[in-house]
Amino acid sequence: MTFKIKIHGTKHEFDCEEGESLIDAAGRHNIDIPFSCQSGICQTCKGHIHSGDYTYGDIEPMVELNESEAEALLCCAQAKSDLVISHPDLFIPGAPKTQHATLTILEKKNEMNS
Ligand code: FES
Repeated sequence: MTFKIKIHGTKHEFDCEEGESLIDAAGRHNIDIPFSCQSGICQTCKGHIHSGDYTYGDIEPMVELNESEAEALLCCAQAKSDLVISHPDLFIPGAPKTQHATLTILEKKNEMNS
């Protein structure tokens, strides 16, 4: 069985086979979701599953997830229905990427004295 995985806030979606992790399915469609351990420990893949049904299969996440905020580990999650997902650092080739930056003002120049 194949499920549609829609990326929240975009028009992008990809197919995910039953029993396949969301990370693997996204990768097959050249959609890059950051990951590291792929075993429910590091949280690199922590994103959100906004709607739909999913399972972690045999993997038991080793981290606390805020279910009321729909947090999920996308490396281990497997779709059981069509889903809507998001991850703050997800990259879709050809799509504009939102970048976040923190700026610190080190010195304020007084224009009256310059
Ligand atoms: S990649 Fe480490 S918890 Fe998902």
